[in-house]
Amino acid sequence: MEEKKVIFSGIQPTGTFTLGNYLGAVKNWGPLQEQYNCIYCVVDLHAITVRQDPAKLRQNTLNSYALLMACGIDVEKSVLFIQSHAPTHPMLSWVLSCCTQFGELSRMTQFKDKSQRHPDDVNAGLFTYPVLMAADILAYNADLVPVGIDQKQHLELARNIAQRFNQRYGDYFTVPDAYISEVGAKIMSLQEPTKKMSKSDENPNACILILDDKDTIIRKFKRAVTDSEAEVCCREGKDGINNLMTIYSIFTGRSFDEITSDFAGKGYGDFKLAVGEAVADGLEPVRTEFARLVQDKAYLKKCYTEGAEKALKISSRITSKVYHKVGFVDNR
Ligand code: TYM
Repeated sequence: MEEKKVIFSGIQPTGTFTLGNYLGAVKNWGPLQEQYNCIYCVVDLHAITVRQDPAKLRQNTLNSYALLMACGIDVEKSVLFIQSHAPTHPMLSWVLSCCTQFGELSRMTQFKDKSQRHPDDVNAGLFTYPVLMAADILAYNADLVPVGIDQKQHLELARNIAQRFNQRYGDYFTVPDAYISEVGAKIMSLQEPTKKMSKSDENPNACILILDDKDTIIRKFKRAVTDSEAEVCCREGKDGINNLMTIYSIFTGRSFDEITSDFAGKGYGDFKLAVGEAVADGLEPVRTEFARLVQDKAYLKKCYTEGAEKALKISSRITSKVYHKVGFVDNR
């Protein structure tokens, strides 16, 4: 029998994910468990590249872990763990950083964006962030990495790093492919629909958080920026409506053509309300399951402890092999 391919992905511990995180990545992670060996991780090491309050980081990491479970990640089927529990990632990251060029890292658009947003803290971790991300993926020799479009550049870099290592030390790493869904890979801000939806947006109406209650979700959609026309259809220049159609289509399974005919002759107000209701109702089971799981601290601890054990088992083997290939003296 052919071995199952390995999937790896990670998410920052913001505590509650945005609708962009959910539709571009997390929602797809559950179904992949049936077909692949999936490894998912809450990336707390990455989080400290921007200043964090330690108590909040700890809480947000635990909440993010529970939220991934509430979104359908089954710890019996997948490896689900917290990044800082696997020191193999920074161990591998060091080796990979020596296979990464300064120029390559300087070209990363997220580095440029984040250093503009935090000019008083352009730390070395922010600069080498994509190397740690490459280590996350390569520590499991992952074949596929399900992410939204904004991570594509980081993934290209991970591929280059893997190829460079393989050239220097002999083929070892699988060169990972991005796995980007056709719809939902870039959910846009509700207030500035030419920008991606992001939790760091200053306007709280720009971003839906998946733990927002029903009223909040509907209110945010009602305030969504659209255009001065009145036709619900997908066309260039109608960024706001295109975005709402994408979101509605994912939650209802309706095609763009069907949505256009469903709302023919109706105003944007009706459409926005329908989108808000579809999203709020679609997320209801996630909210309920999260509220249940987050109470059960002992169970969560058992899950992330076992997840870390499984992650370490795989990544230690691969990291030891890499250390040997590089020429470090074996200590076993
Ligand atoms: P993060 O935490 O910013 O985002 C998690 C996932 O959500 C996707 N995403 C979006 N998709 C569609 N529309 C949006 N508006 C939107 N916003 C975010 C992201 O593309 C991502 O898939 N560096 C990563 C975390 C990471 C990682 C990894 C990912 C660390 N190591 C290894 C994959 C493999 C990040 O900050 O994602």
